[in-house]
Amino acid sequence: MHDLTAIVLAAGRGTRMLSTLPKVLHKMLDEPLLSYPLRTLAELGLKKQLVVVGGDQDGDLVESAMVAFEGLEWPRQIQARGTADAVAAALENLDGVSGCALILCGDVPLLTGATLQSFYQKHIESSSQLTVLTAVLDDGGSYGRIVLDVDGLPRAIVEAKDASPEQLAITRINSGTYLVDLDLLRRALADTSCDNAQGEYYLTDMVAFARSEGATTAIFDLADSREILGVNKRGDLVDLEKIMALRICHHWLDNGVTVRYPETVRIGPRVSLGEDTEIDSNVSLSGQTEIGAACSIKSGALIKDCKIGDRVEIKPYSVLEDAIVEEDSQIGPFARLRPGTEIGVGAKIGNFVETKKACFGKGAKASHLAYIGDAEVGEHSNLGAGTITCNYDGFNKFKTEIGQRVFVGSDSQLVAPLKLGDDVLVGAGSTITRDVADNGLVTTRTRQKELAGRGMAWRRRTLEEK
Ligand code: UD1
Ligand code: MG
Repeated sequence: MHDLTAIVLAAGRGTRMLSTLPKVLHKMLDEPLLSYPLRTLAELGLKKQLVVVGGDQDGDLVESAMVAFEGLEWPRQIQARGTADAVAAALENLDGVSGCALILCGDVPLLTGATLQSFYQKHIESSSQLTVLTAVLDDGGSYGRIVLDVDGLPRAIVEAKDASPEQLAITRINSGTYLVDLDLLRRALADTSCDNAQGEYYLTDMVAFARSEGATTAIFDLADSREILGVNKRGDLVDLEKIMALRICHHWLDNGVTVRYPETVRIGPRVSLGEDTEIDSNVSLSGQTEIGAACSIKSGALIKDCKIGDRVEIKPYSVLEDAIVEEDSQIGPFARLRPGTEIGVGAKIGNFVETKKACFGKGAKASHLAYIGDAEVGEHSNLGAGTITCNYDGFNKFKTEIGQRVFVGSDSQLVAPLKLGDDVLVGAGSTITRDVADNGLVTTRTRQKELAGRGMAWRRRTLEEK
C-alpha cells in the first residue's frame, strides 16, 4: 500500500454534536476521534497522507491537536460545501501526483487496518479504477445507496435524500471510503455540480461519472458492518466507544492479559500491557501508559500516562497520572500519584497518600495518610501516618530532601526547604523547620505534663460547673 495517497475528510463542523469543539476532537477512550483513523493509516505505511480541515480556527485546533502524528499535510476547505469540495481542497496539494487515493472520513473510528488491506487487495485484483467500501444493512437509514448494474458492479450512488422509494429499499450502502485513481478523481471533480436535494457537491457522483467514461468500478462488502459506523451525534460517540473498548479488551485477552469484566474496563489504544497482568472491574487505563508483566490492577484504578514495572500491585481506587512506578511496588488502596511521581523498586505507597513531583527510593514507604510533594525520599526510608511535606508558603514551592533509612514518626510536618540526612529519626508529632544532619534524632513537640491522680477531680469539677 506504499503507493497510496490517503485523503481524510474532517472539515465538517459536526453541528449535531451541539458543541463548541470540532466533532473530530471529541474524545473516545480519552483520545480525539480523529486519532483513530490516523492511527490505522499509520499502520499501513502510505506514501502521503492529507487531512482536510476547516479554513477557520477549527482547522487550526484540529491540526495542533494531532502533532503526535508525523508526515501529515493539512489542506483547508474554506467553506463546507460538500464531500467533493473537501476532496478538491486536498487535490490542490497533489499537483503532479498520480496513482491511487484512499479517501476516508475522519469521524469513522472503527475501520481496521486489516479491512483496508483487504479492500485494497480487492481493488487491485479487480483492476478497478474506483472501488467503494460497502456494507449490507437491514435498513440503509441515511446512508447513500449503491446502485448495481446487471454484473453486480456499482453504477451510481444515490444519497438517501435524493433517492426514489425503490432506491431507498436498497440495503447495500456507501461507507464513504473509496479507492480511486487520482486522474479519474480529478476529472470527476471537475464535472460535479450541486444540483441535488442538499445543494452540496457530492463525492458520490464520481461513481456515475466513472461509468460514463467506461472506467471499471467495484465494491467491497465489509464482513463486520459495524466498522463503517460514524459519529454524527453524542449518542453515536458513546455507542462506538463501547464497541472500541470491548475490542481493545478482547485484544488483550488474546495477548496474555486477564481482563475480568471487559464491559466495565476502558483501555486506551496507546496502552501496552505485559503478560499475566490482571485487570479487575471498572479500571481505566489511558494515554501513553505502559504496564509491565504480572501486575495486578484492582477495581476502580484510574491510570493515565504512567509507566508501571513488572509485578506491581495497584490496589482499588487508586488514581495515577504521569507517574513512574518501578517493579515489585505496591500502591493504594485510595492512593493518588500526581504528575512527576517516581516510585522505586519494591516501594510502598498506602491508603490516602498523595504524592506530587516526589521521588521514592528503593523500598521506601509511606503507608498511610500523607502528602509528599516536591520531595526526594531515600532508599528504605519510612514516612509515618500523617507525614506532610509543607512545600508551599503561599507564593513559592520548596523541596524536601530525605536521606536513606530515615524514619519519620506519625503526624510530622516537614517544612521545606529542608534536608534530613541519612538514618535520621524524627519523633512523632514534630514540626521540623531546620536541616538535620546524618543520624540525628529530632523531636519538636512540647514535653508531656502529668498531674498524678487528678483525673477524677477534674471530671467532678467540670460536672458541678455545668
Ligand atoms: C456521506 C456520503 C454517503 C455515505 C456517508 C457515510 C456523500 C455525498 N455522501 O454522507 O453516501 O453513506 O457519508 O458516512 O459523500 N466533510 C467535509 N467537508 C464537507 C462535508 C463533509 O470535510 O463540506 C467531511 C465530514 O467531516 C465527514 C465526511 O466528510 O468526515 C462525510 O461527511 P458527512 O456530511 O457526514 O456526509 P454524509 O451526509 O454522512
Ligand atoms: Mg456522516
